[in-house]
Amino acid sequence: MKILMVCLGNICRSPLAEGILQHKAKEANLNWQIDSAGTGNYHIGDPPHVLSQKVAKLNGIDISNQQCRQFVKVDLLHFDKIYAMDSEVYDDIKKISGELWDESKVDLLMNEAYPTENLDVPDPWYGTEINYHHVFKMVSEACDIIIEKYKNQKSKAKSQKV
Ligand code: 4NP
Repeated sequence: MKILMVCLGNICRSPLAEGILQHKAKEANLNWQIDSAGTGNYHIGDPPHVLSQKVAKLNGIDISNQQCRQFVKVDLLHFDKIYAMDSEVYDDIKKISGELWDESKVDLLMNEAYPTENLDVPDPWYGTEINYHHVFKMVSEACDIIIEKYKNQKSKAKSQKV
């Protein structure tokens, strides 16, 4: 499976989501390609937020080597599933994707855990460490379900380096 996690800045939530799903896929012996991106361009090239790095590390996951990149429309071709952290991000993905939009590939991340409830992963950007722990817990719950749901499925996306 090729899975892309998307938030606004690619600094707080989606780097955690990338690291968590990568960690769980490795533990399950799955050779998945997992990446993350932001719909905004504020932090291109930056590492994840220090608190995202700290909370990941406290949970045994190193995300310090990640680098922020912006979501691009061809991501729709290269990934099997694209998960938005909140509904604004979902709408921005749709806008950026233009003619390549494919509703079957894109969903809110938390709809994997709570289908059709359209829950957001709250943006911790203006918060404190506790908000980052909350993000970790929500994302981890959804990622457990993604592993179970797709562990026997083969990728249909175009090949690419991520
Ligand atoms: P993220 O959080 O979307 O979880 O990475 C944000 C990071 C930066 C900004 C907004 C949200 N910003 O406005 O710079």
